[in-house]
Amino acid sequence: MKYTSLWLHQSAEGGGALVSTDASVPTASAVIENAVRELETAVPLKGEQVRLSLSGEQSLGVEGYALTKTAEGYTISACSEQGLIYGAFSLIRQKRLGLTEELSVTEVPKNPLRMLNHWDNMDGSIERGYAGESFFFEKDTIVINERTKDYARLLCSLGFNGIVINNVNVKGEACRLIDEKQLPRVAELSALFASYGIRLYLSLNYAAPVEDASVGSADPLNEKVAAWWEKKFNEVYRAVPTLGGFLVKADSEGRPGPFSYGRDQAEGANMLARAVKKHEGLIIWRCFVYNCQQDWRDLKTDRARSAYDYFHDLDGRFDDNVILQIKNGPMDFQVREPVSPLFGQMPKTNQMIEFQIAQEYTGQQRHVCYLIPWFKEVLEFDTCVLGEGKEATVRDVVSGRLFSRAAGGICAVTNTGNDMNWTGHDLAAANLYGFGRLAFDPALSAEEIATEWIRLTYGDDEKVIENVKKILMMSWPAYEKYTAPLGIGWMVVPNTHYGPDPDGYEYSRWGTYHKATCREIGVERNAGGTGYAGLYAGPLASRFEKPETTPDELILFFHRLPYDYVLHSGKTVIQHIYDSHFEGVSDVDEMAALWEALEGAVEPGAFRRVKERLDYQREHAREWRDVINSYFYRKTLIADDRGRELY
Ligand code: GCU
Repeated sequence: MKYTSLWLHQSAEGGGALVSTDASVPTASAVIENAVRELETAVPLKGEQVRLSLSGEQSLGVEGYALTKTAEGYTISACSEQGLIYGAFSLIRQKRLGLTEELSVTEVPKNPLRMLNHWDNMDGSIERGYAGESFFFEKDTIVINERTKDYARLLCSLGFNGIVINNVNVKGEACRLIDEKQLPRVAELSALFASYGIRLYLSLNYAAPVEDASVGSADPLNEKVAAWWEKKFNEVYRAVPTLGGFLVKADSEGRPGPFSYGRDQAEGANMLARAVKKHEGLIIWRCFVYNCQQDWRDLKTDRARSAYDYFHDLDGRFDDNVILQIKNGPMDFQVREPVSPLFGQMPKTNQMIEFQIAQEYTGQQRHVCYLIPWFKEVLEFDTCVLGEGKEATVRDVVSGRLFSRAAGGICAVTNTGNDMNWTGHDLAAANLYGFGRLAFDPALSAEEIATEWIRLTYGDDEKVIENVKKILMMSWPAYEKYTAPLGIGWMVVPNTHYGPDPDGYEYSRWGTYHKATCREIGVERNAGGTGYAGLYAGPLASRFEKPETTPDELILFFHRLPYDYVLHSGKTVIQHIYDSHFEGVSDVDEMAALWEALEGAVEPGAFRRVKERLDYQREHAREWRDVINSYFYRKTLIADDRGRELY
């Protein structure tokens, strides 16, 4: 392995498993070959034998596996090749974690789709990429090399079964990856990923047929448009039969869509879905639709409402091979947002949740920010659509369980690039690992996942495990403390979205305002304001309606409050802002000290890389603290009640 900080290094002791297969296991299959190769080279099984069997229990479904210890070694059984390869990686993981004595594991992935979205452009750049350039594209061509294979293997080891390789913003030449000239390479890439049980998906430019002079339109109800797509998909699937389908960003941030023709989002999505149905392709349609040309003086429009307003009433109108991909919150991957009110409120529609492990708004992989505790909170959130206390969590909605839907799942905008350690910051790899594990089994805790990752990456030294776990678990709360307070979001430098700029987005067209004056701050989103709180199911709507029942961390998202308003914590809004910013900085100091105490206990290169980033993070957290605190001090002229320095 040429890259650093991975949990799948080849075993130093070499392999040694003797792998045998059932007569029913097709030994010529690329997936099986990969499973066998992994087992033979990746774990020191010291003569133990691994038996692969395709006669698994029916209840394992298409992707589950059962792993048991036998007198000779281990048996992995499944009903499919994909189940066997997951079982193989699970055994490797269990072995590395030393958990194989009493081994008996049966696992069926909880989410039908477990995907990564790459925002890679064909020129090799990555939109919001913080770990180098793309390893899929270079100068408008597709790159396939050893690294591509390592990546497929890496993703399979975590149980991913889908990957979108190109940016949702498909700019430039209309078709690009679905161009005839690109298809042979797309096919090669697709076959490579398929050999690890991962389906390839492509982002589409909805307006592609406009470029064709004989069509000149993208109106979903225009027969010529539908026929154009049908022909195009025939061509694409002839060349790439293993393609999973397409991801579409339409009517969003300058991307064209059905609205341009007076059609709704269901008409747009279904037209594509029908054209791709005979190939068993999926259309994954994003709900990130909002007016990005808002006049900041317009006090009525509320960006938080838009996905709900555009999609909610379309429930039941989407075809079965359409999945709505909904960002976790109503805005845009902020460090804290409420859960999108769309989850659970479209029972007749397939839904999938979109997270972002690319740390666009959470420190851009220069700050440590372990996001899994945040994702856990979102997945465990009770949408209350069945009434209070009746368990209708986001996780049950997107897995399809709640409304018995066959399609759905979980995806994240990825944090990987061609840096030698894949994720820029060594510790950001915990987000890639953690997201994959969580997508497979949302019941795992953020702490369990962190412990696994640390042990697989850095070994079994107790102090390393303890300190790195503390760093990871502190990091998201710390980031929230020293950046924008109480759910208000943004306050970042426009465009780059990095570093503090409290009014950066205040007088702009993006609909992301905090509206701070010298007396109050926040957006009234209850019935007296934009009505956003009322979009949630009953009990939640009442909870968010009043500041007294809204949780502190979201209070300025839902309410406009004076700075001396007293929170549940007993602190005023302004004192909370000051205190949390000082606390956030001392948390980072503590994180840096915890890491420094590991000198000599982790490999020197990794030690140095992480130390450098933490040193930088300490400085940058101070910058955040002082800019935000001074901004509020200057607005309010209210002094810190502990007399700390404000500027
Ligand atoms: C954010 C991000 C964009 C991205 C968009 C999206 O706004 O800043 O770069 O294109 O999300 O999710 O489509």
